[in-house]
Amino acid sequence: MTVARAWRIGVAGLGTVGAALLDLIDTRKGFAPIDGVVSVSAVSARSRSRPRSCDISGKIWYDDPVALASSSDCDIFVELIGGSDGPAKAAVEAALKSGKPVITANKALIAVHGAELAALAEEVGVPLLFEAAVMGGVPAVKVVREALVGDDIQSIVGILNGTCNYILTEMEATGRSFADVLAEAQRLGYAEADPTTDVGGFDAAHKISILAALAFNCTPNFDATEVEGIEQVELLDIQMAKDLGYRIKLIASAERVEGSALVRVHPSLTPLGHPLAQAGGALNALFIESTRLGRIYLQGPGAGAGPTAVAVAADIADALLATRRPVFQGPARTLPQIEAVDPSRLMCRAYLRFLVKDEPGVIAAVSETLAEAGVSIESFLQKPVEGAAGVPIVLTTHSVAESVLMAAVERIAALSAVLDRPRMFRIARI
Ligand code: HSE
Repeated sequence: MTVARAWRIGVAGLGTVGAALLDLIDTRKGFAPIDGVVSVSAVSARSRSRPRSCDISGKIWYDDPVALASSSDCDIFVELIGGSDGPAKAAVEAALKSGKPVITANKALIAVHGAELAALAEEVGVPLLFEAAVMGGVPAVKVVREALVGDDIQSIVGILNGTCNYILTEMEATGRSFADVLAEAQRLGYAEADPTTDVGGFDAAHKISILAALAFNCTPNFDATEVEGIEQVELLDIQMAKDLGYRIKLIASAERVEGSALVRVHPSLTPLGHPLAQAGGALNALFIESTRLGRIYLQGPGAGAGPTAVAVAADIADALLATRRPVFQGPARTLPQIEAVDPSRLMCRAYLRFLVKDEPGVIAAVSETLAEAGVSIESFLQKPVEGAAGVPIVLTTHSVAESVLMAAVERIAALSAVLDRPRMFRIARI
């Protein structure tokens, strides 16, 4: 990269994060370790005339982010468009091909296309940085990629989606349903109009795929990530779990499993006193466990304009300091991908809820089916709910092979006394 004293940043995507970044750079004009002035020289967004909180006067406007990315009007390209494909990917590729360092907050892009983009960046010899893609301004990527290279990370477990955490927290606090709280969050602008990426667990899955790749010296493989969102969590489950001493959280985890890594996102029960159960509202929180250091804990705002802009700024500083690192933990073309783990090898403890007819022998039938499968019950709760069609029975299991448990749950679902699809949530291994 050519060394210059005036650093020109091109920014594509002027949503809340883009606007906060322009504001941050316009206000500070540089960052402590950088010798020179940093400014945003050129921008691109869907609409030029849309009212926005940042000042774009004096900046070169591009309708097309790809044209901005390959132009000579900027030295560094910042992608804040979002989405794993389309203009975001095209613009990042164009910037890399024209020899520009790229900084992105786009977790979907890195989780899905990280390997090929990293290979391109390394071929050209420019950085591709994405601190803002995971936990907003909380430096999770730096910790995993840089601070822990001298250790062996065993597991990463946490809450990586603020929208889901907010919804679950509000359901418990106000006694409202998932649909009610989601609708309110959308009205207040906390949740997207199309909430699927967040509530379906995909956003958290993108983030944990990226951290897993960095932790386990691989490239990301989003297809190998198991994803389950919070749509099936009912208020009743939140209340029942609490009676059993747990809080339901959307937990993202990546663990070393015999030469591979298990990467997954599931609604999971966390013990009420555990820091992950205590991280409420839109907070993100993450435990990283490594052999020598032990466990460390990061917590903070995992989204939001200001925090995310801070992470982009840190990447701009790194790009300008010409830190020489591969994009992941080795040349992308030589790293293996994370492979999916055979589910028959996995063990779990679980929470099960069945809605059953209130008649003799039903509990016996459920427990016999579990006993025949070799599933051992740890605790059991039956709590009639006023006005409900049947009676919910809830139980937690001792550790059992997931495939065995799922087969037993299917057999129970087929019993004539079972009125609704059973619910099964894992108890988090934390
Ligand atoms: N929508 C995300 C969240 C933030 O709710 O945490 C951006 O990844």
